[in-house]
Amino acid sequence: MPKSNSVPQVFENYSLKEYNTFGIEVKAQYFTIISSLESYVALLKAGQYAHVPHLFLGGGSNILCTQDIDALVVKNEIKGFEVIQEDEDHVILRSGAGESWDDLVSYAVQHQWSGIENLALIPGTVGAAPMQNIGAYGVEIKDTFDHLEALNLGTLVVERFEKNQCQFGYRESYFKHEGKGKYLISTVCFKLSKKPNIKTSYGAIQTVLNAKGISNPTISDISNVVIEIRKSKLPDPKEIGNSGSFFKNPTVTSEEADRLISSFPGIPNYPVEASTDIKFPAGWFIEQAGWKGFRDGDAGVHVNQALVLVNYGHATGIQILVIAEKIKASVFEKFGISLETEVNIY
Ligand code: EPU
Repeated sequence: MPKSNSVPQVFENYSLKEYNTFGIEVKAQYFTIISSLESYVALLKAGQYAHVPHLFLGGGSNILCTQDIDALVVKNEIKGFEVIQEDEDHVILRSGAGESWDDLVSYAVQHQWSGIENLALIPGTVGAAPMQNIGAYGVEIKDTFDHLEALNLGTLVVERFEKNQCQFGYRESYFKHEGKGKYLISTVCFKLSKKPNIKTSYGAIQTVLNAKGISNPTISDISNVVIEIRKSKLPDPKEIGNSGSFFKNPTVTSEEADRLISSFPGIPNYPVEASTDIKFPAGWFIEQAGWKGFRDGDAGVHVNQALVLVNYGHATGIQILVIAEKIKASVFEKFGISLETEVNIY
């Protein structure tokens, strides 16, 4: 699509049902789609929507809307992939923030560039990925992230953020904290390896490879296996509304971990990189507390993965939030663990 620098069309009272993967029916006071940074800057300079907050939306795959949104919702569709640097071993691939994350993974895998193949099929856009340092199957985007470009909404200057400025942590970044609401991410660059860097140790990857008789996997094999595992556990938002993991996996001190492991022998747990803390799967606590497969009207907890809350059709955001609050209370009562939401609640 040619780059447009004209002011994009703005709609009023616009349904967001198609723009959030929970499929919740709420309305945005104003809604627009931008295909270039220039067009958004033109909109800002026109000044017409300066009286309302601007809320940026990527794939809408990490938001639970519990009310209509009194804001200008800006859907980022800034597209394009480009190799901006290349040597014998690596490429630096730049992606528009509005590209689908999974399209980026497919593009990298097709070109045999390694580093993000374990992150296949994660819903959402490239621009949303650094916000919460998306991760799966032993890989996070911080591992291949090179830098990003973002429009400073105060100065209207495009700033470059290197990895160390992004304060990446487990589902965390600068853009969820100090940088929140201050920037529009326009492009993200990844340093990918021309030599395959195969990671099979996490979850079921190795078991599925063994079952298929694959002893020397390529990066396409890894991405195919991850897709297969995800499809078997996680509901497809096109069929059942959801936002992936609703809560973060709780991380506790080693003393607290000892308490849990001795009280609940067999509880799965994972060491946390560069720390003595231990991470426990929230899905395990939720299942043990009896919530897996729970359903109240159209709101519920997925039957195959207790960490995923679902909308079977016409649930409201509030109905889903009520279940989330009940889950939190019951996990706290049973295990003394406070779950934190991963999804942004609006
Ligand atoms: N478990 C249960 N019952 C459940 C679900 C999980 O007992 O209903 C236990 C099992 O012991 C299982 C363990 O939890 O072995 C881990 O489950 P799983 O491999 O499904 O991963 P997860 O820890 O629940 C995390 C990420 C996912 C990511 C997977 C795979 C978070 C919050 N979630 O889930 O990311 O796909 O690992 O790497 O860290 C997302 O962020 O939206 C997301 C889907």
